[in-house]
This record gives sequence, C-alpha cells and structure tokens, in this order.
Amino acid sequence: METHEAFRADLARSVRLLSAFRLEQSDPDYFYGLLARDTVAQLSTYTELDGALVVDVGGGPGYFADALRSAGARTVCVDCDAGEMRMRDGAMPEGAVLGSALRLPLVTGSVDVCFSSNVLEHVPDPVTMAEEMVRVTRPGGLVYLSYTSWYSPWGGHETSPWHYLGGHRAARRYERRYGKRPKNVYGESMYAVTVSRMLAWARRQDGAELLDAIPRYHPRWARHVVRLPGVREVVTWNLLLVLRRR
Ligand SMILES: C[S@@+](CC[C@H](N)C(=O)[O-])C[C@H]1O[C@@H](n2cnc3c(N)ncnc32)[C@H](O)[C@@H]1O
Repeated sequence: METHEAFRADLARSVRLLSAFRLEQSDPDYFYGLLARDTVAQLSTYTELDGALVVDVGGGPGYFADALRSAGARTVCVDCDAGEMRMRDGAMPEGAVLGSALRLPLVTGSVDVCFSSNVLEHVPDPVTMAEEMVRVTRPGGLVYLSYTSWYSPWGGHETSPWHYLGGHRAARRYERRYGKRPKNVYGESMYAVTVSRMLAWARRQDGAELLDAIPRYHPRWARHVVRLPGVREVVTWNLLLVLRRR
C-alpha cells in the first residue's frame, strides 16, 4: 500500500487540477492519474480505505480503481461500456464488471464504499443511480458521489459553453463546427443534472446521512457556495455528495 500525502483543499491544489485539465485530451494518463490520486486522498479523509471493498460506478478505464488499490482498497469497477473500460491499453481494468449504474449487479449492503466520479450526468435517471449507490453500501459504509452540474462552465462538456443556449443547440453547433457529433450527446449520453436536484435528493435520504455537500475541486474556503441558490448552479462546477449509510 502506498502512503499518500495528506489531503489539503487549498488554492494551490485547485490551480494544479485546473492546469492539468488542459492536458485531459493530449495526456489522459497524466490528468486522470493526478485527479485519481487527489480524489483518493480526499476520500481517505472520510473513511479508511486499507482493506475496504470499494465499487467504482462508471469507472471506465480504471484510473480511480488503480489509485484506490494503491491505498489498500479492493476494487470492483462497474461500467456499461466495454469500449470505455478498454480505452487505456486495450485491456479490461482489474475487477471490471459490465453492468448498469441504474441497476448495479451487487447485493444490497455488500460494499464498504460506493464511489462514482463524473458519471451521474451521463445517466438518464440520476436519482435511480444515486439510490442504487446507497442500496449496495453496507450500514456504516460511505457513498462518494460526484458529478459535473449542468449550469457549470463545463456542464455541456465538449459543447461548452454553448450549452447555456440549450443542450440540443450546443450539440448542433458542435457538429457544424467539427463535422462530427460530440462524444457526449445531450439527451442521449449527457443530461442536465442541477446542483439543487441532487442536494434535495441527498437531504431527504432516510437510508443515509449527508456528511458533506461541497464543490469538489474548490478550496475549502469556497465550500459554502453550495448554499447559495442560483449562484451555486454556476460556481459549484462539480458537486461532491458524501453520505454515510444508516
Ligand atoms: C465521463 S466517463 C467517467 C469515467 C471515470 N469515472 C472517470 O471519472 O474518469 C463516464 C463513464 O460512465 C459510464 N456510464 C455511462 N452510463 C452508464 C451506466 N448507465 N451504467 C454504468 N456506467 C455508465 C461510461 O461508460 C463512462 O465510462
């Protein structure tokens, strides 16, 4: 098991992540490796990972699962797209299971940590996915759920910032400009999930206690933007919900 640095949500960390994001397309190993290590350090502030069984929902090529295993966790990576899972080097990631986030192929209460990064905005029914994550987590276990919210500057992914004029319009503009459909197609593989919607979901949970609702990439002093109706939709960027299963 690797020992990782203590997690510090300071401005330097936010700048580091933002700068690395520019390399997402050209050097995905660098960007996702860095983000995964950062995320695992953040997750470790909520729960012990050494020996824990963690499911990565929509884990794709497995960058997060790798970082989780480096922290001593045992991992299962559930994704519905074998192509995404093989994207890194043609092989399926360790512990890969083909399945849907909307109907997780896992027994109720069977995992210590249910983790998901940037998947919720890609499913047509985000509440069902979130409830599935709570279902498979054991009592006392942790749910870490993070997603890019629709009105964030990156809400439309590669069609941003034109999504502010409407998701379909942004997709049409992208196609005209680049001569191909965007990878993330509004209404097919990308959906408008707001901050308010999932905050409301998390707060009304009977089966889990909401421990934190924060802007995932922001410095600690900016965490309260999530409390500002309207403003939070734009400035939160990526909402992180952390819940403890009752
Ligand atoms: C933007 S990628 C994120 C991958 C990884 N979690 C990360 O942050 O690097 C979204 C992933 O969600 C997966 N996905 C989308 N809809 C899904 C569903 N209904 N069930 C399981 N996985 C899904 C996609 O195949 C893809 O791997």
